Amino acid sequence: MAIKINDVSFSYLKKTPNEVKALDHVSFEIPKGKITSIIGHTGSGKSTLIQMLNGLLLPDSGFLEIDDFKVTSEKRKNKRIKDLRKHVSIVFQFPEYQLFEETVEKDVAFGLKNYGLKENESIEKAHLALKEVGLDKSFYKRSPFELSGGEKRRVAIAGILAIDPEILILDEPTAGLDPKGSELILNLIKELNRNGKTIILVTHDMNIVLNHSDYVIVLNDSTLSFKGTPSELFTRDVSNYSIEIPELFKFALLLKEHQLNIDIEKIKNVDDLINQLKEIK
Ligand SMILES: Nc1ncnc2c1ncn2[C@@H]1O[C@H](COP(=O)(O)OP(=O)(O)OP(=O)(O)O)[C@@H](O)[C@H]1O
Ligand SMILES: [Mg+2]
Repeated sequence: MAIKINDVSFSYLKKTPNEVKALDHVSFEIPKGKITSIIGHTGSGKSTLIQMLNGLLLPDSGFLEIDDFKVTSEKRKNKRIKDLRKHVSIVFQFPEYQLFEETVEKDVAFGLKNYGLKENESIEKAHLALKEVGLDKSFYKRSPFELSGGEKRRVAIAGILAIDPEILILDEPTAGLDPKGSELILNLIKELNRNGKTIILVTHDMNIVLNHSDYVIVLNDSTLSFKGTPSELFTRDVSNYSIEIPELFKFALLLKEHQLNIDIEKIKNVDDLINQLKEIK
């Protein structure tokens, strides 16, 4: 297991009349080398949880183990936190709003300076990261503010990739993108995972859960309410989770109910279903 969350609780505005419990005795594990989606209705504690995974927030009680790092309620020594942030990086929602340098390459290289890299080394790494997100040389000297929404987001992701984290967390990575832009980002995520990165996605999109995730965690009112595979989730009664089962999965379930020999665990996209139907004599 890459990550273990052990009985973690956290409140905002502690000891004030407005105290909000954001996580309440939450425990689960996230597998190494896989794509895991964290879902749950708005305010269920997803963003709070991911910020703990790289020490931006510390739990009030319980602890998190991330490979050989540990995040507890004690203030950690800064040096170790810095290493953790290199090991686990978060792409926040709408990361393109945080672009600010005058050129794309400078923006991507910016984070690397914190790790003591020289200017030319960080620019070199920035170029490699831009290549990974599919942006070629012609983008290096452009202003990030003149790019399309999808391109800006790829620049922002490149800034995180340049740091080369082992574990990459993306909060709503396709929010606000058109279908083409979303597909590019999702393909990039799959490619990064194929190259060995552990990926954690926070999403409200059940098609992303079905098509792209190996494992899914559901948070509900600050507590864990499900952990398992997407097909296990979508086969359950999900009426309490305010989620919409993808149409493709509903259709596959219906076929199975009508005695067609469908292996539900293996249905992730239309091609999987077509291939299984072709097998049926
Ligand atoms: N900075 C903050 N100060 C006070 N309360 C907060 C703060 N951030 C979040 N909360 C509260 O903590 C709870 C959990 O919030 P969190 O942002 O983790 O939810 P989320 O699952 O990420 O929601 P969303 O899907 O809307 O992004 C909510 O009740 C929220 O109102
Ligand atoms: Mg959130």
